[in-house]
Amino acid sequence: MNSKQTKTLNSSEPDLTQAAALLRAGRLVAFPTETVYGLGADARQGQAVAAVFAAKGRPSFNPLIAHLASVSAAQRYVLWSDQAQRLADAFWPGPLTLVLPLRDGHGISPLVTAGLDTLAVRVPAHPTAQRLLTLVDGPVAAPSANPSGRISPTTAAHVMHGLDGRLAGIVDDGACGVGLESTIIGLAPPHPVLLRPGGLAAEDIETVLGQPLRHRDTRDALSAPGQLLSHYAPNERVRLNATRVHPGELMLGFGAMDCDLNLSAKGELTEAAANLFGHLHQLDAMNRPIAVAPVPNHGLGQAINDRLQRAAAPRDA
Ligand code: TXA
Ligand code: MG
Repeated sequence: MNSKQTKTLNSSEPDLTQAAALLRAGRLVAFPTETVYGLGADARQGQAVAAVFAAKGRPSFNPLIAHLASVSAAQRYVLWSDQAQRLADAFWPGPLTLVLPLRDGHGISPLVTAGLDTLAVRVPAHPTAQRLLTLVDGPVAAPSANPSGRISPTTAAHVMHGLDGRLAGIVDDGACGVGLESTIIGLAPPHPVLLRPGGLAAEDIETVLGQPLRHRDTRDALSAPGQLLSHYAPNERVRLNATRVHPGELMLGFGAMDCDLNLSAKGELTEAAANLFGHLHQLDAMNRPIAVAPVPNHGLGQAINDRLQRAAAPRDA
């Protein structure tokens, strides 16, 4: 199923038509979204979805997000609710994923949901992703386009570095603007739950819902399957909340300071989010341990710190 050669495409109409045809034929195509690059497969074709898990080397119990071009397209696959409508009105298209109960006759491969009775749906804002999804005219399952457990890709070069030869095509449309994966909210009754902090600040979601989000129960593996502690891992050790650099280390800074790379010299969290994975990729290529300056834990800082903690976590063999 996987070709040895990965075709590089761009955001022109003929190229996106080709990318959509590959997806409909059950092939894998990486594409940009405003958060990170996704590794897409037709969510209705079990073999295509299986190929995504194989290409990433991903444990198959970890469910995928179905990407759709519009709210009405998403409503075909999940049981819609008042809360879903409010969040979609406020934030779609955008870096928000909603987990809702599956609808009867949904046609989604059980590999996408890892056998759960809920589905994660997202309508991305990136114009290239929008156009591609419109041309596919169906749900596209797309995890981040990186080998499982490694740093997420915010450029086509990152995707090629990790997955070249394991997918049919990649749509190259520059760097992703947000730079962090979508925020995932569980809306299956009884309470809205923050399943993964991400590119949309949890505070903004709470404002629209008019209530605080519950946090996921870390003892319940199924409430956020696949949120493994070690993830986004560079080759070398990562040390957090570092106020100074140790001999041999590279320093990833935040705010005005001396360092090898700075997430945001101005101390802006939006800029830091957009730079996070790209900077980790760059430092990773130098094969030295990485010290990371403290990042404030509000707004997008919550998701930045979540990713940094996983990058620094002890790894399984
Ligand atoms: O920004 C993003 O969300 C990117 C771009 C490509 O859209 N995608 C992404 O996918 O980050 P991925 O596969 O790396 O992360 C999806 C996460 C999984 O870790 C899983 O925990 C959660 O979504 N998820 C998916 N379906 C779920 C479900 N039914 N219930 C709970 N969590 C679910
Ligand atoms: Mg991922």
